[in-house]
Amino acid sequence: MTIEELICYGKKYVHKTQAEMLLATLLNVNSLELLLKLDEQVDSKIVADYKKKIMLLQENKPIQYVIGNVNFYGNIFEVNENVLIPRFETEELVENTIKFINKYFPYPIDIIDLGTGSGAIGLTLKKKLNQVNVTLLDISKEALNVAKKNAENLQLKVQFIESDMWQNVTGKYDVIISNPPYIRNDEKIEDIVYDNEPHLALFGGDDGLSLYRQIRIGLLNHVKDKFLLALEIGDEQKEDVIKIFSDIENVQIICKKDLSRRDRMIFVFRNIDI
Ligand SMILES: C[S@@+](CC[C@H](N)C(=O)[O-])C[C@H]1O[C@@H](n2cnc3c(N)ncnc32)[C@H](O)[C@@H]1O
Repeated sequence: MTIEELICYGKKYVHKTQAEMLLATLLNVNSLELLLKLDEQVDSKIVADYKKKIMLLQENKPIQYVIGNVNFYGNIFEVNENVLIPRFETEELVENTIKFINKYFPYPIDIIDLGTGSGAIGLTLKKKLNQVNVTLLDISKEALNVAKKNAENLQLKVQFIESDMWQNVTGKYDVIISNPPYIRNDEKIEDIVYDNEPHLALFGGDDGLSLYRQIRIGLLNHVKDKFLLALEIGDEQKEDVIKIFSDIENVQIICKKDLSRRDRMIFVFRNIDI
């Protein structure tokens, strides 16, 4: 079959752009190159794989799991059903944290990514910043295996800890960053997310705040005198999350909005003049 015939085939089951994106990925070309090669014949093994994957998309599997990877902050991260698909909003958490680190911290520094999943946050920080020691932590062994694979693919040397939040952590850190599960247990979310992504990565207890409380409980045993805590939050959690951290002495807490103008990030600074 030709590329054009395969796109027509895919269009019967899923949106045309999804079919094109899938085919482009399997052929290892970009979307423009794909459209310039419409008459080219495709190898029969790729045709079979494409048709199988079109069916998965039709069954409402996220394209990132079907393709097996996602672009986060310019790097390709492998993903599977054991990890959350990294979101665009989280790139904004990383972007702001990089700015704050460059502004307020002399290198080298120690960073820990709590609930690392695919490793997207911690590995991006390691890739973008010089002289940082990065530790990736998750409660899920399966998630850590994905993070390890991504570290290998990106040729980054980082540490891994399998732990229920701070339980197995012994070090002290300058920067603590986390995108913890923060959806309320009873919150209705999109079917495609609920049916496919790990609930361990999504739900944060009855009020969605239990992981922030867990972070707070062990925090002061694992930070240096001067530290930055960077958190992603749900867009209605600003006040509650600020309250959880506001009893710490000498802290300044700020909230930042994402590009859609929603309150999505909290930064807690201790012993830093901001
Ligand atoms: C929202 S996902 C974030 C994944 C990744 N950091 C990202 O931003 O794409 C939350 C992660 O926290 C992990 N997690 C959930 N409960 C945890 C706990 N008690 N201790 C450590 N990690 C936990 C989950 O396994 C999941 O990988």
